[in-house]
Amino acid sequence: MRIAIFASGNGSNFQVLAEAFQSGAIKGELRLLFCDQEKAKVRARANQLKIKEVSFSPKSFENKDLYEQAILDLLHEEKINFIVLAGYMRIIGQTLLSQFEHRIINIHPSLLPNFPGLHGVRDAFEAGVGETGITIHYIDKGIDTGPIIRQEKVQRTDKDTLESLEAKIHALEHRIYPEVLAEIINNLEV
Ligand code: GRF
Repeated sequence: MRIAIFASGNGSNFQVLAEAFQSGAIKGELRLLFCDQEKAKVRARANQLKIKEVSFSPKSFENKDLYEQAILDLLHEEKINFIVLAGYMRIIGQTLLSQFEHRIINIHPSLLPNFPGLHGVRDAFEAGVGETGITIHYIDKGIDTGPIIRQEKVQRTDKDTLESLEAKIHALEHRIYPEVLAEIINNLEV
């Protein structure tokens, strides 16, 4: 398997996944980081880990279809057959989806279908829930709606602030995402 990770920001999930590939905990080759934000910290993480990274923004293209077509060209060049979203803050369009059906996964920081969208942790915190968590799911054409692969819960206590809840969610993501990806990749035919 030849894998690409897509990310837009900090890249802490990218980092733990990349380290899991490098240690052999996940079989397959992490070939590429694709980033849509020139200034994202994740790019420096990839450079430090010596993983090829390519970055361009949809703003350089006339429309989303052409942007995704350029990503597809890149994926074909690298013979990528599986995509992992790790904080990629865009909706995957039909151009990419049609070529990678059931081959794109995402991690979301809430127990879907609760609190989809950009602010899963904050929305759960502000709603006052006693329990939230993480969801790993396949991408389909909706927003955070694809088939669920795994969910794990996090308890929110009275002492939790938004920051402490975020820290718990991240720690859980870093433990579970590499584990789930390893299982999926081991069971896939190229
Ligand atoms: C994670 O919380 C993930 O669930 C969401 O975006 C965040 C990315 O964090 N999709 P990081 O960039 O991996 O630190």
